[in-house]
Amino acid sequence: MQESDPRQARSREFLHERKRARVFFNLTSVIYPLIEWHLSPRYQDALGKLDLPVELTVLDVATGSGILAAAFAGRGHAVTGLDLSERMLKRARKRFPAIDFRTFDLANLPRIASGSYDIVSCGYLLHGLSARFRETIVKNMARIAGRFVLVFDYCCDGGWFVRLIEWIEGPNYPRFIATPRDAEFAGAGLTIEREFRTSEFGNAWLCIKK
Ligand SMILES: C[S@@+](CC[C@H](N)C(=O)[O-])C[C@H]1O[C@@H](n2cnc3c(N)ncnc32)[C@H](O)[C@@H]1O
Repeated sequence: MQESDPRQARSREFLHERKRARVFFNLTSVIYPLIEWHLSPRYQDALGKLDLPVELTVLDVATGSGILAAAFAGRGHAVTGLDLSERMLKRARKRFPAIDFRTFDLANLPRIASGSYDIVSCGYLLHGLSARFRETIVKNMARIAGRFVLVFDYCCDGGWFVRLIEWIEGPNYPRFIATPRDAEFAGAGLTIEREFRTSEFGNAWLCIKK
């Protein structure tokens, strides 16, 4: 059957994957403080290293409980955070009431105007997405960003514990870590300007538009 309305087609695509992510992260929100304890100082250190001008606005996609958004806000950036998990957002709003958090499914990123934020960031989103959804998300992040796309995620295998957690989240982590990031970003019209380790298995990639 032919899809007549492209918006409807877009919202149906990846529906199962998005529903699963919502359920998984609503449940995981209870233990997320443990993950925050690991990630929060790493985000703060990485932003300190990058030292991006604080007047640049930020859209943090898949913001979760808001720790990357808060690391930006703590440096003086105006930040908006988007996520589809109500429970993660509830925690984000409680912890960081001054930040603008919105319930938003990333399948709707095409509705956000091109170049409307200086920086578009995401922390530990991409490894959980299927290759095709990931491609769409990275392309839209590149389109929405006026200057930079900043990605934090796994750069290599994190060992048995990470493998176990990611196996529960879904099937996409092994393929993600096996895919070269430079090729993936280049496919979205991005060049890696800086990249560095944030932990034994995590990386930051600061990308600019080609
Ligand atoms: C591993 S958490 C990372 C959260 C946060 N960025 C951090 O670094 O702590 C991944 C987040 O992606 C969100 N997410 C996954 N798929 C999404 C979608 N289609 N739309 C919006 N958020 C999504 C989940 O709800 C979850 O909060």
